[in-house]
Amino acid sequence: MHHAKLPGNGHSGNLGAEINEEHRMLRQKLSAVAELCPQAMAGQDCKSCSVHVPKHCCRVVSDLSEDLMSYMVSHFRNEERMMRETGLFQRARESCERHMQDHGDMSEAALQLVTHLDECKLSTQLAGLTSFLERWMSDHITQHDRPMLDMLDES
Ligand SMILES: [Fe+2]
Ligand SMILES: [Fe+2]
Repeated sequence: MHHAKLPGNGHSGNLGAEINEEHRMLRQKLSAVAELCPQAMAGQDCKSCSVHVPKHCCRVVSDLSEDLMSYMVSHFRNEERMMRETGLFQRARESCERHMQDHGDMSEAALQLVTHLDECKLSTQLAGLTSFLERWMSDHITQHDRPMLDMLDES
C-alpha cells in the first residue's frame, strides 16, 4: 500500500481513489468474516449448530479476523501518512487528531473483541463483532474520512 506521488496541484484525486479502494477491500473482508458462520447470520447460537466443530470455527474466525485487523491497521496508517505528507496535519491539526483518535479507538475495540473469542459463544460474538465494526466503519468514513478528502480537495 503506497501512493506514487503527492497531489502537487492541490487535488486529492489519486489519494481519494486509493482510500476508496481500501474501504472497498475493508468492507469485503468484513463481510467475508460476517458470512463465515451460517448460525451467526441466522441469529442463532452455537448450540443448535449441526456442524459444530467449535475449535475449527474458532481458528477460522481468528485467522480471518487477524487478516481483517492487519488490513485495517495498515489502512489507518496509510491515511495518517497522507495527513502528514500533504501538510493537512499542520493545517487542520485538531480534526486530524480527532480522526487519528478514532482510528486508535477502533483498533483497540476490534482487538479486544477478537482476542476474547470464546468457542462456545462464537456465533453470537461473531454477529456482534461484525455488526459493530460495520456500523463504526461507516460512521467513521462519514465523520472523518470524507471530510479529510474534502479538505484535501480544497487545498
Ligand atoms: Fe478510512
Ligand atoms: Fe480514517
